[in-house]
Amino acid sequence: MNSADSILLVDDEQTILDTLSLMLREEGFPVDTAPDGETALQMAGRKDYRLIICDVVMPRMGGIELLAKLKERGSGVMVILMTAFGDITHAVEAMKMGAVDYIVKPFIIDEVITIARRACASGKGELTGGSGIVGESPEMLATIALLDKSAESDCAVLITGESGVGKELAAAYIHRKSPRSGNSLVPVNCAAIPLELFESEMFGVVKGAFTNALQSREGLVTRSDKGTLFLDEICSLPFAMQGKLLRVLESHEVMPVGSGRSEKVDLRLIAATNKSLEDEVKAGRFREDLYYRLRVFEVHLPPLRARKTDIPLLARHYLGRCCEKYKKRIEGFSPEVEEHFLRHPWPGNVRELKNVIERAVLVTDGGIVTMASLQQNNLAPSALRETGFVGSYKESMAQSARELILNALAHSGNDKKKAAQTLGLSLSSLYRKMEELGISTQ
Ligand SMILES: Nc1ncnc2c1ncn2[C@@H]1O[C@H](COP(=O)(O)OP(=O)(O)OP(=O)(O)O)[C@@H](O)[C@H]1O
Ligand SMILES: [Mg+2]
Repeated sequence: MNSADSILLVDDEQTILDTLSLMLREEGFPVDTAPDGETALQMAGRKDYRLIICDVVMPRMGGIELLAKLKERGSGVMVILMTAFGDITHAVEAMKMGAVDYIVKPFIIDEVITIARRACASGKGELTGGSGIVGESPEMLATIALLDKSAESDCAVLITGESGVGKELAAAYIHRKSPRSGNSLVPVNCAAIPLELFESEMFGVVKGAFTNALQSREGLVTRSDKGTLFLDEICSLPFAMQGKLLRVLESHEVMPVGSGRSEKVDLRLIAATNKSLEDEVKAGRFREDLYYRLRVFEVHLPPLRARKTDIPLLARHYLGRCCEKYKKRIEGFSPEVEEHFLRHPWPGNVRELKNVIERAVLVTDGGIVTMASLQQNNLAPSALRETGFVGSYKESMAQSARELILNALAHSGNDKKKAAQTLGLSLSSLYRKMEELGISTQ
């Protein structure tokens, strides 16, 4: 057991803390305790725990709220909730919010130990101690070192890299490692906010500022006060907003729409883009002054093809995850598959690898992943474009249908009923199509 396997126990009943910590320590887990959610949240901001086991009902801050706050911060810590017998609704809510498991009180100690062991074991293989970033190539280790440096400083960070390389993951990592981790990480996808709502969403609005402003609303910038604002796809930030954002960064003040008064805000900005901001500046779409401000601390995430040793590591990582998700036992990959993975250019980077593995797991019923199981779903549209694939109309329609169905299954967690609904098919026609296309119906 290493120190990265630390557990934080949270309960307002001292006897429970005493017994549980004694038993878990005997099993070799380093254990800390907290009497309520608020204390636990502070402790989790200062130390990286592998697992938090906490009661649902506690004074000051309960377990569900603690879980929500941890997620809001982008924390990767695993949470197990303890609920009173007969109070299963809490447990269901907790699982939906991302708890890894729940324990019903009164519990059997052995059961808790088993759950703790399983939770700690499942986090293994993530070589940076529960950071969620898998990678040990020299390129990735250097990048992680840079992310660590940026976490120490408080200046704006620009994360660049191709689509799917892990920019969002990196942003969460910086926040979690930074002194601001006790406060919120507020993620904003700049491409998803309608132009006319941008200003009020970002900076807030006071009641009556415009016809639809029936109530005052806090903006995203104010919500990130003392925490971190993550502006994803920053090149989609409207030009007029770029100037206003720069002013906020420089003056540490924000003025809600319709308000004559500015408010102080203590903001840390992380921005991400997969387009070259330099090109955007040249094209006159991005303000040069904001670009210079962001560029001070730039972290470039290398594409997957430039850090080949991470490929087998990530493949194994996601194979384990998917097997768990779909309750399958698949031992590994055939040598041909491993070689194919190393040769493939991975234009969609880690996201593409993750999807390929997920689909391979869906069509494989045991043993190992072979080229045949990859070929069942590998001619995804992007691959078709890349290889310039030309086939008969029938063949390409079958490929697209297979792609659609596999995606729907992946999204629904292999729930055929849900997938059928998404696709607008009856359950029986989904099964028929799956059989026709050679997709495992397991
Ligand atoms: N080093 C890594 N270890 C484990 N998982 C990773 C790693 N990098 C990326 N991922 C996973 O790959 C997926 C894509 O990552 P993420 O969303 O962070 O990429 P992105 O660079 O923000 O992509 P986009 O430009 O399309 O927004 C996520 O599911 C993420 O968890
Ligand atoms: Mg992203």
